[in-house]
Amino acid sequence: MTQRILFVCLGNICRSPTAEAVFRVLAGAAGLPVTVDSAGTGGWHVGEPPHPPMVAAAARRGYDLRVLRARQLVAADFTRFDHVLVMDGSNLRDARALQARAGGQGARPRLFLDHAPGCGFRDMPDPWYSGDFDRTLDLVEAASQGLIAWLAAQRQAPGA
Ligand code: 4NP
Repeated sequence: MTQRILFVCLGNICRSPTAEAVFRVLAGAAGLPVTVDSAGTGGWHVGEPPHPPMVAAAARRGYDLRVLRARQLVAADFTRFDHVLVMDGSNLRDARALQARAGGQGARPRLFLDHAPGCGFRDMPDPWYSGDFDRTLDLVEAASQGLIAWLAAQRQAPGA
């Protein structure tokens, strides 16, 4: 069955659109059937493409972010998606609050970097503030591979 994956950050112009594009490519290469999207807890950048230096850093590794447009997380996302992966603890608090206000149904948001346990972070640093766009790509690639392995193992588990 196709797994529906949503990545969430604050602005939806740096970390989560990168996760969307990278995970789409790597899951495709792994033969994993997924649909992928991303959203921001904040609404400041709705309708905008990803941040230009993030687009450029991703392009140097072969990922195309140019077609993506920012949107804001909505309560219906928790039932539209099977997995909601957030980038940091602040996103987790905001996503949980939105879900609680809407009655608490659906996928429980989780930290994306928990799929990269050796990477040294649980919160993905925000390159909007740090300027380190390559570190974002390193962390997104590592956690994407971890998430792919985890989803593939779930598919093979008896009764899955
Ligand atoms: P992101 O980074 O959450 O990784 O997309 C940010 C982008 C914009 C802002 C904050 C974080 N902002 O405050 O506009």
